[in-house]
Amino acid sequence: MSNYIKKRTIPLSEPEISGNEWKYIKECLDTGWVSSVGAYVEKFEQMVAQYLGVKFAVAVVNGTSALHLGLFACGVVENDEVIVPSLTFIAPVNVVKYCGANPVFMDCDETLCIDVDKVSQFIHSYCEQRSCGYTYNKYTGRRVKAIIPVHVFGHPAEMDNLIRLCIDRNIDIIEDATESLGSEYKGKKTGTFGKVGCFSFNGNKLITTGGGGMVVTDDNQLAEKVRHLSTQAKRDSIEYYHDDIGYNYRLTNIQAAMGVAQMERIDAFIKIKRDNAALYKELLSDIDEVSLLWEKDFVKSNFWFYTIKTSKHHKNNLIDFLLSKYVYVRPIWKLIHTLPMYKNEIIYNIDKSIDAYECCINLPCSVGISDNEINFVVENIKEYFMLVS
Ligand SMILES: Cc1ncc(COP(=O)(O)O)c(C=O)c1O
Repeated sequence: MSNYIKKRTIPLSEPEISGNEWKYIKECLDTGWVSSVGAYVEKFEQMVAQYLGVKFAVAVVNGTSALHLGLFACGVVENDEVIVPSLTFIAPVNVVKYCGANPVFMDCDETLCIDVDKVSQFIHSYCEQRSCGYTYNKYTGRRVKAIIPVHVFGHPAEMDNLIRLCIDRNIDIIEDATESLGSEYKGKKTGTFGKVGCFSFNGNKLITTGGGGMVVTDDNQLAEKVRHLSTQAKRDSIEYYHDDIGYNYRLTNIQAAMGVAQMERIDAFIKIKRDNAALYKELLSDIDEVSLLWEKDFVKSNFWFYTIKTSKHHKNNLIDFLLSKYVYVRPIWKLIHTLPMYKNEIIYNIDKSIDAYECCINLPCSVGISDNEINFVVENIKEYFMLVS
């Protein structure tokens, strides 16, 4: 036996697999329904659609493919412009490029979601609406076809003003709700505001299928298009007749079986996430140098991640200190417009995102984290500030 003593580690975000996952997956294995056709795929789609209150849900292999098909189905094509946040995981920006379109990078507001006031300023000062009703960038001559608001770390973006602006200017909203399953904006679930909404069931998300995603919409034609494109655009069930260039993006029955088991517990997961947010908030309130980002009055966040803000001076040192204590915190995303392949794209007046990147840290947020572990995280944050004061 080794004399290795296991250190106490607090992971950033671990899946919670303690429901019917084994049972349902075993059923797939026992019956041979392991691939992308099977009762669990349909059941998972129905559960998500019903939970969100939308008419259609199409299960795909991950959130990135959901976004890709969402853009594609909405008709984003080469040379279009798509407004995206710079402060985001990279997937919603990459999919713009997959379609041959061009990102326009936008700032965030105090919730870390896209700054809708700045979107409006950009549209009103740099774009024009032509007689066809579509909006064009006056300087590049390209059509501004869509916007992808990301509900960052579970907090809903400002939807009312965005929807008003986009209806007025004929711009499609493709919601990146990959992090915000179950979050609500004025009582309505995120992912249900745009022409399509996209979800991820990656291992670190609120519910997981290992890897998986979903496109949701109330538009039957869009749903059919997404479903068709996700299965290689095969039109005939016997003959290999494909009528478009499709993708192999369909979720498997095994993964969907896991999704069904996870969906059975989503309300409990969200309650835990919100209770843990409240506990972090209470414990952190003693530390002057740190504040926990909190939800706006009119939203209900799923609190997928807990984000603290400190000063630029302390951020990296605090991360290093916590990592040295095996508390797995993380910086937030590097701004996408600063990455080498996106350096030459259009950027509109970004400053708050820079400040957020320089000052914010994400804390451990697994559904299974205990009160003791949350205490341990906060005690270590306190210790850091005692040591440096
Ligand atoms: C904001 C955002 N968009 C898109 C994705 C992509 O999802 P996936 O990893 O399932 O492809 C993720 C997370 O992984 C994300 O956080």
